[in-house]
Amino acid sequence: MSDTSSLVDRVTGHRRMRRNRKADWTRRMVQETRVTVDDLIWPLFLVPGSGIVEPIAAMPGVNRLSVDMAVEAAREAADLGIPALATFPNVPMALRDETGSHSLAADNLINQATRAIKAAVPNIGIITDVALDPFTSHGHDGILRDGEIVNDETVAQIARAAVLQADAGADIIAPSDMMDGRIGVIRQALDESGHQGVGIMAYATKFASAFYGPYREAIGTGGLLKGDKKTYYIDPANGTEALRDAALDVEEGADMMMVKPGLPYLDICWRMKQEFGLPVFAYQVSGEYSMIKAAGERGLIDEPRVMLETLLAFKRAGCDGVLTYFALDVARALAGR
Ligand code: PBG
Repeated sequence: MSDTSSLVDRVTGHRRMRRNRKADWTRRMVQETRVTVDDLIWPLFLVPGSGIVEPIAAMPGVNRLSVDMAVEAAREAADLGIPALATFPNVPMALRDETGSHSLAADNLINQATRAIKAAVPNIGIITDVALDPFTSHGHDGILRDGEIVNDETVAQIARAAVLQADAGADIIAPSDMMDGRIGVIRQALDESGHQGVGIMAYATKFASAFYGPYREAIGTGGLLKGDKKTYYIDPANGTEALRDAALDVEEGADMMMVKPGLPYLDICWRMKQEFGLPVFAYQVSGEYSMIKAAGERGLIDEPRVMLETLLAFKRAGCDGVLTYFALDVARALAGR
């Protein structure tokens, strides 16, 4: 035995990594990254009506909320110290059309929710997604004409929708459509309408991913989408192209960046942080959430531990925070509730 250990000492030169791992207190001392409530952004799904808490089959544990219930959810999130919410509307079919014109209604669901939450819970940030997909009859993020998503017209409409979101009280606009030039045009539209203080979180690198499936069910575009989004989202194979795309968003005036999906794209999180130094947020998207939930429900993994481990991984990869459907669960766990 003593021979073995001296052999180990000889090969390691007496450097034994396990010394720092030997007890809970040493492990806490050397812990490099931590997840705190300040890292969490909670995405919420909205539906018209009142008193509605509607489970989403594809996302166990996540509900669509009517505005009044969203206000209650916002209150709980704020009480737990969650810094911000991100809102996504499920718009009735009757209000959807080819061009997503209801995105330009000042009192549409997303703007109603912003007004109500801001009035009742002023100490939580509101990040509004601006894209046409909740409003189009075909589920695309832009205006579809002759089989093509037209860029410039879409950008013009999105910029108008962003101004209406800011008018309603949104703190940060998050364009998720991946049209070229959208950040610069939105920045200009916000500034010209007196919203210099409203920030932009660019969905800077958004990939044409299969992980968005459950989200599309959540906002009711699942069965609608014709074709795919490969002509505007980034090919999952392309990391360097993603960085070039993000560089444009930085030049055009993004205040913060997002990487989406999250866990399969940690290399992009790291590269973005190193390259630009702007705040970087990962979006742990619906498919990532539902995989963990489904495996947890079947007893195949320990869900709470896996959930926290994924969040640590985002921090280790340089992220400043994470948009995650687990936000409330994590905040409660951190608060010991
Ligand atoms: C589209 C949008 C998507 C998500 C948020 N906004 C993707 C899509 O449907 O293509 C996905 C979020 C998730 O999967 O959790 N504007």
